Amino acid sequence: MPKILVIPGDGIGTEVTEVSLSVLKTINEKNQVEFTFDTALLGGCCIDAHGIPVTEETLENARQSDAVLLGAVGGPKWENIEHHLKPERGLLELRKCLDAFANLRPAVVYSALADASTLKKEIVQGVDIMVVRELTGGIYFGHPRGTEQTDNGEGKRAFNTLTYSTSEIKRVARTAFEIARKRRNKVTSIDKSNVLESMVLWRDTVTELGKCEFPDVTLEHLYVDNAAMQLIRRPADFDVILAGNMFGDIISDEAAQLTGSLGMLPSASVGEKGAIYEPVHGSAPDIVGKGVANPIASILSMAMMLRYSFDMETAASSIEKAVEAVLNKSYRTSDIYEEGKTRVGTEEMGSLILNELRETSAAAE
Ligand code: IPM
Ligand code: MN
Repeated sequence: MPKILVIPGDGIGTEVTEVSLSVLKTINEKNQVEFTFDTALLGGCCIDAHGIPVTEETLENARQSDAVLLGAVGGPKWENIEHHLKPERGLLELRKCLDAFANLRPAVVYSALADASTLKKEIVQGVDIMVVRELTGGIYFGHPRGTEQTDNGEGKRAFNTLTYSTSEIKRVARTAFEIARKRRNKVTSIDKSNVLESMVLWRDTVTELGKCEFPDVTLEHLYVDNAAMQLIRRPADFDVILAGNMFGDIISDEAAQLTGSLGMLPSASVGEKGAIYEPVHGSAPDIVGKGVANPIASILSMAMMLRYSFDMETAASSIEKAVEAVLNKSYRTSDIYEEGKTRVGTEEMGSLILNELRETSAAAE
C-alpha cells in the first residue's frame, strides 16, 4: 500500500493541504487505490513543539514514505530565531535527506487568467514553462561555509561555496532532457560560465550529455542575467529551463510571476529516495485563518504526485482539467479575483473542483 506523509506545516499550509487531501480521497475512491497516510510537523510548528525545525523521526518517516505532501513553512513568529534553527532549515534538511535533487516548477498561463499577469496579455499568452531546478547541491549546500572573525579582529568574514560535480549536473540535466521530450523538445540551460568555474563545468556537462543521449532535443545556453531579461521579453519561447539551485530559485520566482497567479503554481521535488510535492507559494501569514487562501497550487501539487510518484496519469490530468473547468466557469479565490467573476473561499474552491471531478467521472462511466 503506497504511503503518503502529509506535512501541512505553517500558515495557510494547513488550510490548503486539508482541501487537497479531500480531493485525493475522492480520487482514492474512484480508482480504488488504498493510500495510507501519516502526518508530521515541519518548520515553525515543529520549532514550537520540539525546539528544532525538523526531527530525526520525521526525516526517517519521510524516507519510509513513497511521497511527501507539504503545505508551507515559516512565518514572522520565527523570523528572529538563530539561523541554523529557522523553519526553512527544516525544508532544506528534508530535501537533502530524500536526495530530492530535481525540483520541477511548472509556470503555466491559463487562458482564463491571462489578464492576471502584470505583463501584457499578448506577451504572456500561451506561456507554458517547466523550470527544472537542481535542489540538493550548489551554493545552498557547498562547503566550506560559515562566518568567522577577520584576522585583524575588526569585523567578520562570511562565506559560501558554489560547487557542482559532473554527476550532480548530469542527473538533473537528464531529468530536464527527459521532460523536454514529453513537451516541446527544447531545453534552455542557465549558467554563469563567463565568470564561474563551477558553471563552466555545468555548461560543458549539459552540452556533452545533450550530444550523447539527447541529440533530438534542442539545447540552448543562456547566462543567468540574460535569461532573467529574456524571460520577461519573450516568455512563450521557453519550454524547459534547467538551472542550478540558486539561479533556479530566482528564475522560478520570475517565471511564477509571469503567470500572475503564484497561488496556482505547484511543484515536485524528486530523487531516488523519495519525492516532495508542495505549492510554490509560502505560508502567507497575512491571510492565515481567513479561509481565503487559494488551494489550487496544493491540489495541482497533489496531481503532480499522482503523476510522478504513482504513475496515475489519468487521475492527474483529470484533476488538472477539473481546475481549468472551474476557472472557465469564472470562480476565483481572492488572489486571482477580477471584476465580474465569482469570488469564493478556500473550501468552496475545493468543493467546486471536487464536484467537477465527480461530474466528469460520472459522464465517463
Ligand atoms: C523555495 C524557497 C526555499 C529555497 C527557502 C524557503 C529555503 O525559496 O522553495 O524556493 O530557497 O529553496
Ligand atoms: Mn524560492
